[in-house]
Amino acid sequence: MNFQLSEEHLAVQAVAREFAQKELKPGVIERDSKMEYPYEQIKRMGELGFMGMMVSPEYGGGGMDTLSYVLAMEEISKVDNSCSVIMSVNNSLVCWGLETFGTAEQKNKYLPKLASGEWLGSFCLSEPEAGSDATSQSTTAVDMGDHYLLNGTKNWITSGGTSKIHLVMAQTHPELGSRGINCLIVETSSPGVAIGAKEDKLGIRSSDTHTIMYTDVVVPKENRIGEDGFGFKFAMKTLGGGRIGIAAQALGIAGGAYELALGYSKQRTTFGKPINQHQAIAFKLADMATEIEAAKLMVYRAAWLKDQHQDYTAASAMAKLFASEVAMRHSVEAVQIHGGYGFVKEYHVERLMRDAKITQIYEGTSEVQRIVISREISNDKPYLPA
Ligand code: CAA
Repeated sequence: MNFQLSEEHLAVQAVAREFAQKELKPGVIERDSKMEYPYEQIKRMGELGFMGMMVSPEYGGGGMDTLSYVLAMEEISKVDNSCSVIMSVNNSLVCWGLETFGTAEQKNKYLPKLASGEWLGSFCLSEPEAGSDATSQSTTAVDMGDHYLLNGTKNWITSGGTSKIHLVMAQTHPELGSRGINCLIVETSSPGVAIGAKEDKLGIRSSDTHTIMYTDVVVPKENRIGEDGFGFKFAMKTLGGGRIGIAAQALGIAGGAYELALGYSKQRTTFGKPINQHQAIAFKLADMATEIEAAKLMVYRAAWLKDQHQDYTAASAMAKLFASEVAMRHSVEAVQIHGGYGFVKEYHVERLMRDAKITQIYEGTSEVQRIVISREISNDKPYLPA
């Protein structure tokens, strides 16, 4: 076992940290308050190679491993979770899904634009009545011979107002249940694609989350990913890796809140000494540091398993479940350590606390992660790789 990050990993971490602290931090409070989309920041993230980190260089990506992606997500999420969710969906749901399961034509057509950040992609699974119960798709893709006719509504779509392609899960053979679902690549310029209003959210406020309506959208057959009926498995397999990205985001939120709380506790004095010298605060910081270290090991291990081509279904669900609970718990504690200052925007911790909540909800709620974990362990999947 080796807990040492490589030179390459340390370099990725350092670049991401510097970018987040120097280029994302100034302006993040204003963007969050005004729900201002981070156009310049996302463009810059494309230039720095953060939008297609794991995509093979053949398609213009960084050719990096999952751990590199996790390290970058973690540093960016210490500061700006609107930017990191846009990055996460583009990298681990859209680019990874396309590169792993797409045809050569689909990869050549879409990956270079997505990996460079010139285009963003969205992952369209959730519906008004199909969130956790994702097999209950109402969106239909009727087989018309050489094309599908797509109708339905998707909601909570990250990058919904800016993305150029959607990976849309839709039902083609209702009698087959989840085995009748297809994933279609839909260009957002296609006639019949309509974008609803931007959601006004508790956290990740400057990311663009929208409802999308599809009315008689003609999607060529060659835009289907995988065999007929592969769409639900595509979504589940892709979300397995996506959950590692969100776990890294949660880890970053917890780490960012902890770094701010630790720094504040050293310079804030009460009763004649810095507050980190009072046991009430020192113990909070000790609990934060301990649980964040535990979350880090789980998230890095899930990434490592994926990179080793070993089964990571349970590991990614466990990492997301634990890291998101740690992010929520300790971002609340970071606000408490800051006292009244924690309650105002200027000190950044209240934003991290608001951002933490969504990591327990998207890409599978904490309850869905427990479903996945309990099914895996009842199938006697090994606790650690054999
Ligand atoms: N890999 C491969 N196949 C899988 C799989 C996996 N990880 N998980 C399930 N499947 C397969 C099953 O084997 C089964 O296939 P067969 O019929 O051939 O046996 C099929 O998929 C159906 O699976 P289940 O019977 O387990 O389905 P279920 O109805 O019980 O649901 C669930 C399982 C885990 C609860 C699933 O519905 C789920 O993950 N729900 C949450 C959805 C989710 O995470 N949504 C997030 C939206 S995306 C997002 O948030 C992005 C963003 O913008 C930030």
